[in-house]
Amino acid sequence: MSDMTVIGLGAMGTALTEAFLDKGHAVTVWNRSPAKAHALAAKGAVVAASVEDAVRSSPLIVVCLLVYDTVHEALAPAREALSGRTLVNLTNGTPEQARAMSQWAVTHGANYVDGGIMAVPPMIGRQHALILYSGSRQGFDTHSEQLDALGTSKYLGEDAGLAPLYDISLLAGMYGLFGGVLQALALTGSAGIPAGEFMPLLMSWLQAMQGGLPKWAEQIDAGDHTSNVVSNLGMQAEAYVNLIDASKASGISTELMLPMQSLMKRGVAAGKANADLTSLVELLQPPKQVD
Ligand SMILES: NC(=O)c1ccc[n+]([C@@H]2O[C@H](COP(=O)([O-])OP(=O)(O)OC[C@H]3O[C@@H](n4cnc5c(N)ncnc54)[C@H](OP(=O)(O)O)[C@@H]3O)[C@@H](O)[C@H]2O)c1
Repeated sequence: MSDMTVIGLGAMGTALTEAFLDKGHAVTVWNRSPAKAHALAAKGAVVAASVEDAVRSSPLIVVCLLVYDTVHEALAPAREALSGRTLVNLTNGTPEQARAMSQWAVTHGANYVDGGIMAVPPMIGRQHALILYSGSRQGFDTHSEQLDALGTSKYLGEDAGLAPLYDISLLAGMYGLFGGVLQALALTGSAGIPAGEFMPLLMSWLQAMQGGLPKWAEQIDAGDHTSNVVSNLGMQAEAYVNLIDASKASGISTELMLPMQSLMKRGVAAGKANADLTSLVELLQPPKQVD
């Protein structure tokens, strides 16, 4: 019997397995393409002959495949073997997919924990690799010590959809930032300014702006976007036009910038010109139900 089984030995599954092995755990592995298990076998992992054997080898089953459909496909032959075990699914997906997978696993007698990996493979096993978990409290508590081998664990609650919700929301923030950085570097690059020269300024500017985000949270939680406004939406919407015009004048695509401008215009048209930028969050959300 192993301490845990890892199903899926892509870049991430391999890193997860290595982190468990590094902590001295006995690990069974399975991958669709068996060749990916060879290097791990040399490090002490036991290679299962089938996915069913893999599941029967451990009380804790960690799955990290490409998408949820592949998880359903890969686990289908092993569903009867899941009973009494904890299934931790670290495959990236949506909250709805996680809840459906949870129901499926519970139907087959497993404790289901969903997870979101906020790290890239080389970070796994280190403290700064954040892994979000949600779903069965019992399943998480029973195996939290082993899961801590992967990085810093954060349990969010019994709803299996919470980990992917947090994961996707963190990625949304990241891609918003990355999109802005790409536009900034395209603009300065078009004037022949090397990215390496501009980057330190950009980083300190973003850090300074990040300092205002706790106030954003307060305003959004309070639903109050009009007290102590120092940079109102109307002013920002006018200045934003320059960003679009300057990009166009340099022949730079505005495709990343136009959606934000469209939202700002919608905010001004809705009478929010004197409010803070945080008021735009209400335009992104579905309309509130009136009883
Ligand atoms: N890499 C990252 O930086 C990172 C960071 C955070 C989260 N993640 C998430 O971690 C998960 C795995 O990512 P990865 O980087 O390990 O991807 P990857 O290197 O492309 O590996 C994909 C894995 O899925 C398996 N797979 C694909 N289709 C399958 C099928 N139909 N049946 C059975 N197995 C199948 C592959 O098996 P074969 O070897 O047989 O092809 C392989 O084990 C993804 O959900 C990803 O979003 C990745």
